Amino acid sequence: MSGSPYPLGLRLAGRRVVVVGGGVVATRRMPALLDAGADVLLVAPELTPALRAHADAGRLRWERRRFAVDDLDGAWLVQVAVDDPSAAAAISTVADERRIFCVRADDRAAATAWTPAVTRQGPVTVAVLGGGDPRRAMAVRDAVRDLLAAGPGPLDPPPADAGARGVPGPARPTRRGGHVALVGAGPGDPELITVKGRRLLTEAEVVVADRLVPGLLLDELRPEVELVDAAKIPYGPARAQEEINQILVDRALAGRSVVRLKGGDPYVFGRGGEELLACAGAGVPVTVVPGVTSAIAAAAGAGVPVTHRAVAHEFTVVSGHVSPDSSASMVRWEHLAGLRGTLVILMGLKNLAAISATLVTYGRPAQTPAVVVQEGTTGAQRTIRSTLGVVAADVTAAGLRPPAIVVVGDVVGALDL
Ligand SMILES: C[S@@+](CC[C@H](N)C(=O)[O-])C[C@H]1O[C@@H](n2cnc3c(N)ncnc32)[C@H](O)[C@@H]1O
Repeated sequence: MSGSPYPLGLRLAGRRVVVVGGGVVATRRMPALLDAGADVLLVAPELTPALRAHADAGRLRWERRRFAVDDLDGAWLVQVAVDDPSAAAAISTVADERRIFCVRADDRAAATAWTPAVTRQGPVTVAVLGGGDPRRAMAVRDAVRDLLAAGPGPLDPPPADAGARGVPGPARPTRRGGHVALVGAGPGDPELITVKGRRLLTEAEVVVADRLVPGLLLDELRPEVELVDAAKIPYGPARAQEEINQILVDRALAGRSVVRLKGGDPYVFGRGGEELLACAGAGVPVTVVPGVTSAIAAAAGAGVPVTHRAVAHEFTVVSGHVSPDSSASMVRWEHLAGLRGTLVILMGLKNLAAISATLVTYGRPAQTPAVVVQEGTTGAQRTIRSTLGVVAADVTAAGLRPPAIVVVGDVVGALDL
């Protein structure tokens, strides 16, 4: 077959696609077909566990047998992913007779359609055909993906995928196109931001950053991006939050794409909810991009899993910023003391003596292992191992300071060799 390939974007939603074969190739092809909303008929005597999971979940229909000619009834496309070349050729012949495009894993030259190497960035899909050489296609695809990830360029203006209430959904930017993304920056290691968070950051025109966000992420911003350092807003905490809300709303209503970059996850002691409500109240659409929270990642950074089989069946994340003996405390520490699992305390260093004493008083054994992790996942990470009874004294002696988490429970030694 000669002639250069003619690229198309197939809109497969609700349309029958037949996949023949249940092995590794079919497994790799399947997610994109399902993502496109195709009505997939999978014909194969056996399936890989991943394909089986799709079938069990009802995402596709599985015929547990070999291919039959009638399988192509009503099909728009067939993907042949079988090892046997003569079987593949036979399916391909039937597809040809019925004028159904046929992708063949075993013989690209005999196929009537090729699958490109693909990268997706928000609403943009880049598909690369390598002139019959899939490795060339993948190399070009990777280069394009890196280019797109490096800066807004062709993706500017930003995609309008901002749902009005935090869940990614249909776009409805402000009349002038502005919107806010509440993005979790992760615990400290700049590589622990999500792919979506990073993309929105590269597309932002305004970035309002918290004290705890990884500085390297900010270094990468284009010079024309307005960077607002939320830590430098010169009011008390309550006024500062109002001020931040106002900045988000004002910039978005002026038509700008704003990223509110927050340490860890925006909704874990991050006041993300207040910012979402302020934006929603002003008619500004918001996308929420969850982040990797320090509650889990700083522990992991110190080699501590927050759960471990046969050690802990629960983990509880609690803020220690209010002392247990304060009337303002909303935490029932006496109940937490009765739990056997893992307790992760954020913002707890200042009150650690009172917290640990309360937990011991109400029944958590003083010998329970504890670890304190300062600046977890960063190059400056510091860790001390201790026990609940003496952890506060150990923190003072070691001179540990915020940001730090305290993890209490038998998981602390669970991975010790
Ligand atoms: C206002 S809370 C914000 C938590 C954040 N939203 C999250 O999900 O990680 C700040 C507290 O998070 C904890 N924290 C944040 N980053 C940390 C890190 N890299 N290492 C240890 N603790 C961290 C500390 O307890 C700090 O006082």
